Amino acid sequence: MLDPKTIEIIKSTVPVLEKHGEAITTRFYQLMFGNHPELLNIFNHVNQKQGRQQKALASTVYAAAMYIDNLEAILPVVKQIAHKHRSLGIKPEHYPIVGKHLLLAIKDVLGDAATDEIIDAWEKAYQVIADVFISVEAEMYDQAANQKGGWDGFRNFVVDRKVVESDVITSFYLKPEDQKEIATFQPGQYISIMLDIDGEEYTHIRQYSLSDAPGKDYYRISVKRETGSDIPDGIVSNYLHDHVKEGDILKVSAPAGDFVLDTSKDTPVVLLSGGVGLTPMMSMLKTIVETQPERKVTFIHAAQNGNVHALREEVEELAKLDNVTAYFFYDSPTEEDRKNNRFDVEGYVTREWLKEKVEIEDADFYFCGPVPFMKSINSFLIDLGVAEDKIHYEFFGPMASLV
Ligand code: HEM
Repeated sequence: MLDPKTIEIIKSTVPVLEKHGEAITTRFYQLMFGNHPELLNIFNHVNQKQGRQQKALASTVYAAAMYIDNLEAILPVVKQIAHKHRSLGIKPEHYPIVGKHLLLAIKDVLGDAATDEIIDAWEKAYQVIADVFISVEAEMYDQAANQKGGWDGFRNFVVDRKVVESDVITSFYLKPEDQKEIATFQPGQYISIMLDIDGEEYTHIRQYSLSDAPGKDYYRISVKRETGSDIPDGIVSNYLHDHVKEGDILKVSAPAGDFVLDTSKDTPVVLLSGGVGLTPMMSMLKTIVETQPERKVTFIHAAQNGNVHALREEVEELAKLDNVTAYFFYDSPTEEDRKNNRFDVEGYVTREWLKEKVEIEDADFYFCGPVPFMKSINSFLIDLGVAEDKIHYEFFGPMASLV
């Protein structure tokens, strides 16, 4: 426990951190990668370039500073990050490296304002925060390694099947090279894939949601090819699409993540997805069908059009069941889509549509997709009076705020 003086100093530096938080974390990464380039094997270079990681880390540091005398309050956030850390292989020995460079960055950015007293207080506070992460993560490592079919770190998986699902999404069915059992998972969880790409100086790690129900002898991921002018082409997704073939080996870490379907309930579920955000929803849908055949589930998916709409037949098949209803929204349907009745609604999901078509009462809502999609769904649900504890969502990439 920190002494009252240290706590006071930490809390009084929160406004300063808020002002300089991003500058500090940006400087922190420069310094840390300068001294420890090997860490570029674990960090996502694209997130670094976009500054998204800086924001996620900065806001966590403010939160921790605000709650330094009551870290319990931010435990849910710690757990979410710890899942990601565990999936990436972040270990206790990494924490002093981050701590040292964070303090150096604070000194650099604040200059004379960073007195010895402030730096000393932050050193102590960082240790307290790091200890919370380390202990939460230790439990997760233990669980991942010691559960049935579990393992530590990265395990070799063979690409058993590669299936093109749409113009932009391809599924990979992964089976363990050792042919032994694989850990079960909760629908909504993800795995990390580590790639060593020819000609690349560092390894790349990415998280992909599992898109099938648990209990199979394989894991399935469905990967979108990332392209676009505003972000550097997704090096990993393009490599998976263009170069990885059936029979190849991929390094995979055990399933992780806390965006999961609550299967202890039997209340109705509404699954909403935009684009490749459908992957965790597929796992949830298939799990309900396989394990809770009486539970009502509404699957709502928004895509541009049929060319980029993945796994449509799989959902259509499930929607024949009494407990499953599916709706497809296309905002730019093609002539083919119209001719073949491939969608239910032209345009975007709206508040009015949800109000009219979805049984709101008692239902739990799970959603995932591009940030604008998530923002609108979130605000519609709040407007429609859905309680906060019934709204569940996940961001792909670093966390951001929906508000
Ligand atoms: C991700 C915070 C320590 C490596 C994250 C995220 C946050 C965060 C907020 C984003 C989570 C998300 O995307 O959902 C912190 C805090 C730490 C800490 C507050 C210290 C108390 C570390 C350490 C390492 C590390 C010691 C390893 C050197 C990473 C990596 C990611 C990550 C590689 C994924 C980011 C990416 O690849 O873009 N961390 N972290 N973190 N963290 Fe940490």
